[in-house]
Amino acid sequence: MRRGVANEDRHYDDFEVPYEEGMSVLDALRWIRTNVDSTLAIRYSCINANACKTCVALVNHEVEYTCIAKLTPGVITVEPLPKRRLIRDLVTDTVPDEEKL
Ligand code: FES
Repeated sequence: MRRGVANEDRHYDDFEVPYEEGMSVLDALRWIRTNVDSTLAIRYSCINANACKTCVALVNHEVEYTCIAKLTPGVITVEPLPKRRLIRDLVTDTVPDEEKL
């Protein structure tokens, strides 16, 4: 998973998550934040209703809603959206530049 903030060195951290059938990528991210690293920055609201659209990230280099992207056994890569301003870790700016005052 890519970590870091804008304008600083970014790096990848590896995490091992106990896999359960049916888990989403967001479930894994929440598990990491609860059990391993509380500083991990992620954004979500509805958790798995695919209603808030805030949990979007790159999962294995594809744009996905992490709450509905199924976790699979093995290595997956999660990164922030590349065309949005990075805030920290997986959190990017959600307001388009043309809508900012
Ligand atoms: S957490 Fe709401 S759409 Fe993913």
